[in-house]
Amino acid sequence: MTSLRPVLAAAIAGLLLAIPCRAQQAADAVEPEAPTGMRPVSTEPAKATKFMVAAANQLAAEAGLQILKKGGNAIDAMVTTQLVLNLVEPQSSGIGGGAFLVYFDAKAGRLTTFDGRETAPAAADPTLFLDEAGDPLSFYDAVVGGRSVGTPGTLRLIFDTHERFGALDWKTVVQPAIDLATDGFKVSPRLHALIVEEGQRLKRFAGARDYFFDAKGEPLKVGAILKNEAFAKTLRLIADKGAAGFYEGPIAEDIVRTVQNAEGNPGRLALSDLKNYRIVEREPVCLTYRAYEVCGMGPPSSGALTVGQILGLIEPFDIAALGPGSAKAWRLIGDASRLAFADRGRYMADIDYVPMPLRGLLDKDYLATRSKLLMGDTALAKDAVAPGTPPWDHAMLRGDDVAIELPSTSHFSIVDGTGNVVSITTTIENGFGSRLMTGGFLLNNELTDFSFETHDADGAVIANAVAPGKRPRSSMAPTVVMQDGKPVLAIGSPGGSRIIGYVAEALIAVLDWNMNVQEAASLPHLVNRFGTYDVEAGTDAAKLAGPLSDLGFEVKEADLNSGIHAIAITPEGLEGGADPRREGVALGE
Ligand code: GLY
Repeated sequence: MTSLRPVLAAAIAGLLLAIPCRAQQAADAVEPEAPTGMRPVSTEPAKATKFMVAAANQLAAEAGLQILKKGGNAIDAMVTTQLVLNLVEPQSSGIGGGAFLVYFDAKAGRLTTFDGRETAPAAADPTLFLDEAGDPLSFYDAVVGGRSVGTPGTLRLIFDTHERFGALDWKTVVQPAIDLATDGFKVSPRLHALIVEEGQRLKRFAGARDYFFDAKGEPLKVGAILKNEAFAKTLRLIADKGAAGFYEGPIAEDIVRTVQNAEGNPGRLALSDLKNYRIVEREPVCLTYRAYEVCGMGPPSSGALTVGQILGLIEPFDIAALGPGSAKAWRLIGDASRLAFADRGRYMADIDYVPMPLRGLLDKDYLATRSKLLMGDTALAKDAVAPGTPPWDHAMLRGDDVAIELPSTSHFSIVDGTGNVVSITTTIENGFGSRLMTGGFLLNNELTDFSFETHDADGAVIANAVAPGKRPRSSMAPTVVMQDGKPVLAIGSPGGSRIIGYVAEALIAVLDWNMNVQEAASLPHLVNRFGTYDVEAGTDAAKLAGPLSDLGFEVKEADLNSGIHAIAITPEGLEGGADPRREGVALGE
């Protein structure tokens, strides 16, 4: 993992350096978190010997780093980084949303995960996203307004884990975000571009309209100083009262009022949903891959299971020897991904609500049998890509899920001076979430991660259908890679259901192709979820379009908008990587 093999190094250098610095470009109309420009591509990781933060925004990473310098640990820095991200990258994550944390507790020598996913309100039912005729609503008709808002989990996640693991006091870790909200920060190019792109939907409700546009109704310009007094007030209450200041009292009342009164599309969130919200500590889902244990977030996220399946399916093949420029390597990765997504659609959902073959999906014998499907020389035929039958003591007939998931979200990684590791993916779902704003923060639209349909065409129940209190299936894949019981890599990405492909690719880049984390974050993307091979437009990945098409894939060039923020823990120190497609940075000391 630490030394670059010479042959591969040449191939990687060719692939990386061919990424052009793309000019600012309009975001894709249906993907409001699409890229706003590629920064110059670096292959050099940030280096540090003590601690490091890698996050999607300089101000957020800097705030986290300052906490580490003050003697805070990774959990302290996580709280600060998250709250500052909420302010400076409001479209992606925050206390109005949910998050998954993979945490290595150095003192206990233990890896664990925390599920801070939003829940469906108690008043939700399976028909939440069906119209009066029983047909699914269009995506944005469902998203914009109160209907899509789930009970937020992020604040409960950062507060509870801070109570348990934090070193500095709560007020100290909340204060940097209060200061920045009060003093103001410069609107970044990415935030500006996304406000422009989302103009119409963002103006629908007063809160976001008043915040993201100037007095003339124009989108805030790049460099404009944006203050958020409402958020500072919210945070002061949270600093004083902790999570109770959010889940009960005036903030909770504002959230519920905003959701229930969203004109044209009200939601069902109630005060009791907020008061009853709990995070869940869950065992990490791990797969042994070559010399490593690749560990991440289990259900309700499909992240670790689907990434794990992809790795498990390609393990019998010598991906390292094939290298990143090989169409054969990408055939194997692409078809492994298609098979994994077939299982994901059939089986994966909130395990507290639906039985699912958790262990069976990563069972080595099952994966070895499925892997034999990849033995041919060309892409799998469409009808050969079907869910398998993992070992499972519940023989159940499930329908395949049709949930719509678009890119959004943020990932950050932190390693502190005592070896604690945070890998957290955090989201309000679609860019700008439900577009409802209260208390200076945006509310999520996470419930649209449920399947809108309740049954498939044959009448089989869809595992990821809406139910009261249930958590919508996620693709978020915060990951910690372990070797000999110690963490060696923290990594993750935003990107809707493409998160799985981005994380799998970056893991293969580091673990098989010996890339450093910056090279892995910069590597052009090739992602296959449901059959179409998406290759990253304007990069050398597009050069593989012809060969992959010759192998039988349907290939499409697309903007592939990852946001990988990773830290490798090497014998020589920490190495950080930040995705050039976003505004992030890895900072350390
Ligand atoms: N809303 C993004 C995800 O959970 O996958």
